Amino acid sequence: MTNKKDLVANVRTDLEKSVTLKEIEDLKVKYLGKKGAITKLLKTLGSLPPDDRKQAGIEIHTAKSQIDVLFSRRLEDITSNLIDEKIRKGTVDVTLPARSSGLKGSSHPIQLTLEKIIDIFCRLGFECQSGPEIEDEFHNFEALNISEHHPARAMHDTFYLSNNKLLRTHTSPVQIRYMKTNTPPFAMIAPGKVYRCDYDQTHTPMFHQVEGLFIGENTNLSNLKGLVAQFLKVYFNSCELKMRFRPSYFPFTEPSLEIDIKLPSKYGVESWLEVMGCGMVHPNVLKNGNIDPEKFSGFAFGMGVERLCMLEHGISDLRQFFTNDLNFLNQF
Ligand code: FA5
Ligand code: MG
Repeated sequence: MTNKKDLVANVRTDLEKSVTLKEIEDLKVKYLGKKGAITKLLKTLGSLPPDDRKQAGIEIHTAKSQIDVLFSRRLEDITSNLIDEKIRKGTVDVTLPARSSGLKGSSHPIQLTLEKIIDIFCRLGFECQSGPEIEDEFHNFEALNISEHHPARAMHDTFYLSNNKLLRTHTSPVQIRYMKTNTPPFAMIAPGKVYRCDYDQTHTPMFHQVEGLFIGENTNLSNLKGLVAQFLKVYFNSCELKMRFRPSYFPFTEPSLEIDIKLPSKYGVESWLEVMGCGMVHPNVLKNGNIDPEKFSGFAFGMGVERLCMLEHGISDLRQFFTNDLNFLNQF
């Protein structure tokens, strides 16, 4: 019978000679397999005198653990040698361009609509401005002639934050910020996100508006109507567009209007849809913006970007813009 020390030594020599994974596997069978050397040794235990069995058992198990260690070490060496060799042989051209996934990103339909609106107004000489989405009550309400207990505050379904801050409910606060830092005459637009506690087919809690403000001497309501009508015709590239100027009320404009549009049936949406509010800037608002209402007058408008996009593409539910459904988005 092989002495246990010799057995371990034999395994060591055999392993040193082995170079492939197959050779290691064969050695494993030879020494550790069902019919291997260790199993054979274990089988001899029964024939030993009872007093010797315990000691012999311990020795066999010690030998087995040593052999296990030898195998795993050799396996590690061989695997890392194989990897090294693969790297040595293989030539990797790190300058090759990456393989494309075939998927191309594209702008969100709302982003495309915003860009289209901005482009039209910039061509008309409007300057593009932005303002904070986290506003204070002063800019969002008070300066716009909406005093603390004014019913118009309730109409806005505001998301309030702490410290008198809120998520702006419209882009109109940018009017105040702009008036305070610029001298008329001027023409500006302010696109951006606004927030209201609203949710149905034509309302989402976050949506986009583009504010417009035009201040000069002798500006009147026909200037406003002419500009807005021209804008909508250019936007929809259509002279068939039906527009409705409806009398309305905003504390910050006087008179105030809302504009609804209806498109020919090829656009899919046939009922009137409100796209913007507008009016002549209220004298109190001009004063709050440090502009003399005796000398200057002007108009302002605030349009719903999602609404324009809906009408343009015949989309019946505005909420679809924000579900991140790629099947829907890929159409644009
Ligand atoms: C305003 O927000 C006024 N600040 C607009 C304004 C500006 C009037 C300057 C006068 C002078 P209104 O709440 O109606 O008005 O909203 C303007 C447009 O935003 C609406 O015509 C509509 O197109 C769009 N809109 C309003 N609420 C939502 C909503 N929850 N989801 C999507 N679009 C909306
Ligand atoms: Mg409205």
